[in-house]
Amino acid sequence: MRTLVTGANGQLGKSIKNLVIQQQISDSFVFTTRDQLNLSDLQSLKSYFETHTFDLIINCAAYTAVDRAELDEKEANMVNHLAVKQIAEIAQNKNIKFIHISTDFVFDGLKSQPYLEGDTADPLNIYGKTKLAGENAVLSIMQFNAIIIRTSWVYSEYGNNFVDTILKLVKHRNELNVVSDQIGTPTYASDLCLAILTIIRSEKFNGNEQESQIYHYSNKGFCNWHDFAKEIIKILDSNCILNSIKTKDYPTTAQRPRSTVMSTDKISQEFGLKINFWKDSLKFCMKNLSVISISNDN
Ligand SMILES: NC(=O)c1ccc[n+]([C@@H]2O[C@H](COP(=O)([O-])OP(=O)(O)OC[C@H]3O[C@@H](n4cnc5c(N)ncnc54)[C@H](OP(=O)(O)O)[C@@H]3O)[C@@H](O)[C@H]2O)c1
Repeated sequence: MRTLVTGANGQLGKSIKNLVIQQQISDSFVFTTRDQLNLSDLQSLKSYFETHTFDLIINCAAYTAVDRAELDEKEANMVNHLAVKQIAEIAQNKNIKFIHISTDFVFDGLKSQPYLEGDTADPLNIYGKTKLAGENAVLSIMQFNAIIIRTSWVYSEYGNNFVDTILKLVKHRNELNVVSDQIGTPTYASDLCLAILTIIRSEKFNGNEQESQIYHYSNKGFCNWHDFAKEIIKILDSNCILNSIKTKDYPTTAQRPRSTVMSTDKISQEFGLKINFWKDSLKFCMKNLSVISISNDN
């Protein structure tokens, strides 16, 4: 299956690339960075697909700067909604399957139980609103052959993410304040990539005219950001003191949902996935990170 992966310089894009190289299947994958395929330029997007053919598109590109999006709605909407709509139209016309990545931030965070795929989405911020508009565009254009995977709190060995931020901060500070009243589930990007590969290889996905679906994928369990930081510090064996603070004491431009824990039952059951507990995957990623930093030092 000739597959296009957009957002090749992002966490998920890099993690997919790493995985397909490891599995020696990279020949059937094309990875595009912003320079090669710019989702802010609808005309060039259209032209790109006139000269390139694929069986599957995995869209990992997104406007992910949640606070910046509040001041830059036009661009966030272009990348997260209008470009996604354009890709869905192209996929529909050319009979290409489409896997699109979305977010837990489509929810308002007020539910006390894990969110199900069918629960009402009601985003609190521009990022969430533009991602939801992208989801809705995919579903309205592609009745069949599209999958939307909502994920949460993504971290990896690559790029800016919470793990990377805490690792940098503990190098220079003895004490950190981290919010404890926002709850969710960390997702190790490599675990999500493995799930995507399992989906792509499944009989269900490869059957003809599969009705388009939304799925939730995160690691197992849940925590707040303070718990997440505590676990990172524990694995590091650092003496850094961690204080728990409230969201109101750490104001951000964009409002964040209080709790976005998602049920992963649907994706696990339909594709036979065994999902790792978040603390196990965190340990694995941090082990990889220390290997990376040791080899970089040499
Ligand atoms: N990170 C999270 O915590 C999180 C949580 C929930 C859902 N998600 C979703 O998961 C998916 C992958 O996220 P990620 O963590 O891998 O994000 P990321 O590391 O920020 O990567 C996003 C990529 O999109 C690219 N991009 C942005 N604007 C573009 C444009 N106009 N044209 C082409 N490429 C563009 C970026 O390119 P540059 O490298 O050139 O900037 C970047 O490489 C996204 O759909 C995101 O919404 C992420």
